[in-house]
Amino acid sequence: MKVYKIACIPGDGIGQEVVPAGEEVLRVLAEVQGSFKFDFETFMWGGDWYRKHGEMMPADGLSHLRDKDAILFGSAGDPHIPDHITLWGLRLKICQGFDQYANVRPTRILPGIDAPLKRCKVEDLDWVIVRENSEGEYAGVGGRVHQGHPIEIATDVSVLTRVGVERVIRYAFKLAQSRPKKHLTVVTKSNAQRHAMVMWDEIALQVSKEFPDVKWDKELVDAMTARMVNRPATLDTVVATNLHGDILTDLAAALAGSLGIAPTGNIDPERRYPSMFEPIHGSAFDIMGKGLANPIGTFWSCVMMLEHLGEAKAAAVLMKAIEKVTANKALHTGDLGGTAMTKDVTRAVCEMIKTK
Ligand code: IPM
Ligand code: MG
Repeated sequence: MKVYKIACIPGDGIGQEVVPAGEEVLRVLAEVQGSFKFDFETFMWGGDWYRKHGEMMPADGLSHLRDKDAILFGSAGDPHIPDHITLWGLRLKICQGFDQYANVRPTRILPGIDAPLKRCKVEDLDWVIVRENSEGEYAGVGGRVHQGHPIEIATDVSVLTRVGVERVIRYAFKLAQSRPKKHLTVVTKSNAQRHAMVMWDEIALQVSKEFPDVKWDKELVDAMTARMVNRPATLDTVVATNLHGDILTDLAAALAGSLGIAPTGNIDPERRYPSMFEPIHGSAFDIMGKGLANPIGTFWSCVMMLEHLGEAKAAAVLMKAIEKVTANKALHTGDLGGTAMTKDVTRAVCEMIKTK
């Protein structure tokens, strides 16, 4: 029997509640499917680890993860530790260390979810946003000099490389090609950013020639926000730089009804390293430890993980179970206006898997 080695990193805040819920659901799914099993190993890295050891994860942390088939991640963020430390010390260290250069974020309005766009039909909003995940505005290039003095200088330099742009745009074209609409929107800002974003546009045009069956268009990032709200049905697959993608995917999640639902895959398409799956919501310290977190974002991330592992059938079973559960408003958590607890939603999804 196939055994998948999964690293679980709950991280901070509600990550510690939703990741165990994800594990439970995956265990039940494996039992019911009967053709594979999971071997979970949990790593308690994050804010508490930082308080004890002065780092978010051990220096040799990546070596514990390298031989895993996938990573299930909760969230990183702690009200008492600066955000740039929690982010760079754990999540980005894994994303960049394992060159997970494609951040893939599907968005749909799931059954039973009350989405804010009143004119938007459920089938109008079915997007996958691919966010460049290894460079751009998150390259980490920059510095501060003369700190605290009037002449202080601070820079964050966005870095785009030809290799980095080409590979993520090619990945997005391939993904667009695999979807029924075969349509890709390339998000840009080459009107104002006249070097790197102009290269980005040129590379998009070059790569598009490899995919004659994919229709594609270009949209400036500011106009893109309006298009997502006003003409959602004109979008399908989208590719954007790291920061543009960060912002657009929060908007996408909100338009689909809740940040608590949205999933992410940090993918190494070449499969040299394990890919990492996580809900898009943060650590949500205001509700942590109360059992109120919505685990659906984690479950949907598990669907993406199963697809990545090649378990398409199991992925479809889990997605169906999720949709059956969201359709029932009695099982909505607080972010969706309901009163259900994390454990209610988890139990319901598990039961749905068992009854197929
Ligand atoms: C996300 C998050 C992170 C990001 C934060 C936590 C730094 O917003 O995954 O979208 O900006 O990448
Ligand atoms: Mg974000």
